[in-house]
Amino acid sequence: MAQVALARDTRDEPNEVALQTRVKAGGTLEDISEMTPRYRDVLVATMSIAADLEIMTLPLDLDAMQFAPCIGDRIAVASALQDEMGHAQVMFRMLEEFGFDAYERVFERDPATFKTFFMLEWNLKDPIDMAMSHLIGDQAGYITTCDLEEHCSFGPYSRSLRKVNFEEQFHVKRGEYSVRHYMQLGPEVRKRVQESLDFWFPLGAEWFGATDDVKSRMDQLHYKIRGSSNDQLRQIWLSRVVPFCEQLGLKVPAHFDGEKGIYVLDFEMPILFNEETGKWDFRKVTWAEKLAQWKRGGSKKVPGLRRIQSELWGHDLW
Ligand SMILES: [Fe+2]
Ligand SMILES: [Fe+2]
Repeated sequence: MAQVALARDTRDEPNEVALQTRVKAGGTLEDISEMTPRYRDVLVATMSIAADLEIMTLPLDLDAMQFAPCIGDRIAVASALQDEMGHAQVMFRMLEEFGFDAYERVFERDPATFKTFFMLEWNLKDPIDMAMSHLIGDQAGYITTCDLEEHCSFGPYSRSLRKVNFEEQFHVKRGEYSVRHYMQLGPEVRKRVQESLDFWFPLGAEWFGATDDVKSRMDQLHYKIRGSSNDQLRQIWLSRVVPFCEQLGLKVPAHFDGEKGIYVLDFEMPILFNEETGKWDFRKVTWAEKLAQWKRGGSKKVPGLRRIQSELWGHDLW
């Protein structure tokens, strides 16, 4: 998850120390008045990114709804889309309590300024991509929001994620069901599933952000906004996705390392996606290069968000 830029380091001040001691002992904050400015900044940045990510799923799901191959698929995607809309609503409603104007944040803000992640900024090409987005993407999102539900020291946010996580789990299950189904449809379809996975897998791996050895700001962990580091969350994701794909005969650039007792990537992060070839280049680059690619964003980000903001899609939805 992206890190938060903060101005002055006030973590040693008495009210800060008191707050940190409290959250480290498992205490929760129930009201904004209990927060220090720094805690509040970290929490709001975390919630804002999560809210923007929910909005970014909508234009992707909308396309998937329209190219769904049958009525059952169309209803399933419509249901997921409604779930994501509900998640966005929960999160933006909560941000209103921190003084944000939800309507402005969703409909009037420059799309380029939304804090979305690279994984959600690309067109889904077909129903196989949609299935893969559930298998890889919703799984990554689900792991992130489960961590927040379990550990977030702001009680109202943690509790609001309970329903979100039930629904995300449903999206993941649908992804597993669909990918398993497509893998039974013969060599041509299996080839396309592999191709889609080749695109999605590194996107999922990098969803969790920079590796722990290079990460400098640990405020989210400091304040128990979340409980696990980037690498810990990535490990959970690998431990679910890799064996599932291997069982189906799909190849992934990762494996279980028996000596270390953990899943490891077959490449070293960070790597770049080559937008011209539509393929990943597995040579290691610098984090500055990776950050620049994330900052440029994917081709769906701005047009997708513009479409949501225009509300024109409401008329031709079905
Ligand atoms: Fe969601
Ligand atoms: Fe989802």
